[in-house]
Amino acid sequence: MAEKRCGKEYYRKNFFPRNYLDMYLTFDSGESLNCGTAQAPIMDKLHKAFSEDGIQGDTLIDIGSGASIHQLLAACESFKEIIVTDFLEQNREEMKRWLKNDPEAFDWSPVLKYACQLEGDSEKWKEKEEKLRRTIKQVLPCDVTLANPLDPLVLQPVDCVVSTYCLESGCDDVPTYRSAVKNVGSLVKPGGHLIFAVVLEETYYMVGPHKFDCLYLTPEIIIDAVKEAGFEVLWSQALGFTFPLAICDAKDTFFIVAKKPSESQ
Ligand SMILES: C[S@@+](CC[C@H](N)C(=O)[O-])C[C@H]1O[C@@H](n2cnc3c(N)ncnc32)[C@H](O)[C@@H]1O
Repeated sequence: MAEKRCGKEYYRKNFFPRNYLDMYLTFDSGESLNCGTAQAPIMDKLHKAFSEDGIQGDTLIDIGSGASIHQLLAACESFKEIIVTDFLEQNREEMKRWLKNDPEAFDWSPVLKYACQLEGDSEKWKEKEEKLRRTIKQVLPCDVTLANPLDPLVLQPVDCVVSTYCLESGCDDVPTYRSAVKNVGSLVKPGGHLIFAVVLEETYYMVGPHKFDCLYLTPEIIIDAVKEAGFEVLWSQALGFTFPLAICDAKDTFFIVAKKPSESQ
C-alpha cells in the first residue's frame, strides 16, 4: 500500500512555510516552479466579494492561513479585525515574523502591489501592508477536524470566515471534509458569510521536496457540503487556472461564496 502523505504528524514534520511561500506565492519570478501569479484570480474574486459585492463587518477569521497574506489584502478594507489561524506552529511563527516586520520575513511586495492595483493605486502598497498588520489582531492555532476548530478558545461567531486551500489538505476523506465544513461554518454568525477557494480534483501537491496527499474534491461535493452545513450558496465559479504538474495535479480552483441565513429567515 502507498505511504500516506497527510495527517497532522506528517504536516508537522514536512511542511515548511518558506518552501510553500517560495513555490506558491512568489509573483512574477519567471521561474517555472515559482508560480504565485497563478493565484492572482483568487485575489481578484476576494476583491469582488468584499469591495464590489459589499461583504463586510467587524471580524473575519481566516482558517488555515499558513503563513500567507494574499487572501487577506482585500478583506482588510472591509473588516475591522482579522484573526488568522493555522494548525502548524511553524506557520504561525512565520506569520508572526511578517507581522513584526522582521527583515527575514517573506517579501510580499509584488503581491501587495497587485492587491493595490486591483484597488486602483499600486503605489500605496506600503500603506496597505501596514493596514493589514494593524488589522490582524490574533494568530491562533486551529484544527478543522475539531467541532470547534479554535478549541480550547470559544469565540463569538463572526461576520465572515474565509479559507483558501486548507480543508482539502486537512481532511482524509469526504465524510471528514463534510464535518470540517460544518465545523468551520459554525464560526459564522447568522447572516454572515463563508468563502472558500478549493483545489479541484487534486491528489497531491509539493511543498519543497515533500509530497502531500490532497483530498480529491469536485464542485458538487463542495457545494453539497456547504449546503449541508446550513449555508445558501450565493455564487461559485471555477477560476480556470492550474499549476505545473511538478507542483501539483489540481485541475482548477473553485471559488464559492455562501451566506448563513439570518435568524429571522
Ligand atoms: C496548502 S496550505 C494553504 C495555506 C493558505 N491558506 C494559502 O492559501 O496559501 C494548507 C494549510 O492547511 C493547514 N492545515 C493542515 N491540516 C489542517 C487542519 N487539520 N486544520 C487546520 N489547518 C490545517 C496547513 O498547516 C497549511 O497551512
